[in-house]
Amino acid sequence: MADLRAKIVGVGSATPKKVVTNDDLSRFVDTSDDWITTRTGIKERRVTEYDEATSDLGHAAAVKALESAKLPAEDIDLILVATCSPDTLFPSTACILQKKLNATKAVAFDLSAACSGFNFALSTASAFIASGTYKNILVVGADTLTKYVDWKDRTVCVLFGDGAGAAVLKPASDGSGILSSYLMSNGFDGDSLVMPGGGSRDPECRNGRFIRMDGKEVFKFAVKALEDTLLASLKQANLKVSDLDLLIPHQANIRIIDHAIKKLGLPKEKVYVNLERYGNTSAASIPLALSEALEASKIKKGDIVALAGFGAGLTAGANIMKW
Ligand code: ACO
Repeated sequence: MADLRAKIVGVGSATPKKVVTNDDLSRFVDTSDDWITTRTGIKERRVTEYDEATSDLGHAAAVKALESAKLPAEDIDLILVATCSPDTLFPSTACILQKKLNATKAVAFDLSAACSGFNFALSTASAFIASGTYKNILVVGADTLTKYVDWKDRTVCVLFGDGAGAAVLKPASDGSGILSSYLMSNGFDGDSLVMPGGGSRDPECRNGRFIRMDGKEVFKFAVKALEDTLLASLKQANLKVSDLDLLIPHQANIRIIDHAIKKLGLPKEKVYVNLERYGNTSAASIPLALSEALEASKIKKGDIVALAGFGAGLTAGANIMKW
């Protein structure tokens, strides 16, 4: 890694007000709190209103992150928004956010890696800082996937929730910051998790506008991807699993997390989990959990923190940081 290391200097998150519990779901789809809790760990999720878009949540999270970093919006050099549920195909959600924030000099663009988006965006931001191209970078992970679930499809609708998380990155010179980033993509198995409608292959959504997923295939991929990317990123940073103080995994399913940490030999106390309250918020899941972990003082200066996740593409990635 180059000389200039990127460091997170502020975080923020936002979720919609509306809470939908497992019992609420079981009133209109054939499911139960018991099934969802046992198979996923999820108890409730936050769901946007019809007129609430991804950039609205992204904006609320970004304002908090900028406040905690004490960075005026006009000083942002780059806005990166990781999302697979943009407000519009264009302009990008990042450009919409630039306008909302009045970030006059920022370059802004979206990055698409589904639930892996925040790790992909952090890694991109880190490279821009390492090369000296930009100094003040706002990274946002925001998704509203409840707008793309068929509420009659019990195999998918119980899994997702909406949210946003944001982080401000700056160059660090005190040895802290992002120590390593490891990303991987496997487009060959991409068919196991697809949002088919709305793109140029099917602009009129004749094949449906809802998420289609082979849950078992994604599950198998996810456990291995979490383990592999974490080990690869630790190796890059010359660290071992036992050096980790906290893992913040993608919050998709407690069984995926439990399987992966068992294989890694990582104790549960070193893993931050909040999926019971939010479900899978896609690109928002890791920064939302990171914000909460910091608020709850689960991270202290000098800690080794790993952010690791997986998603559609298929994709996976991990960032190791010294806090
Ligand atoms: N409520 C009640 N019953 C259900 C539900 C539900 N919500 N969903 C499925 N079932 C039934 C099935 O119909 C099946 O019934 P059958 O045995 O009569 O056929 C039974 O429960 C078992 O279903 P499975 O699919 O075998 O359940 P499984 O244990 O595999 O759990 C799950 C399914 C939770 C989806 C799991 O496979 C999983 O978590 N996969 C990973 C999904 C994921 O994380 N996706 C997000 C990726 S990130 C991104 O980028 C978007």
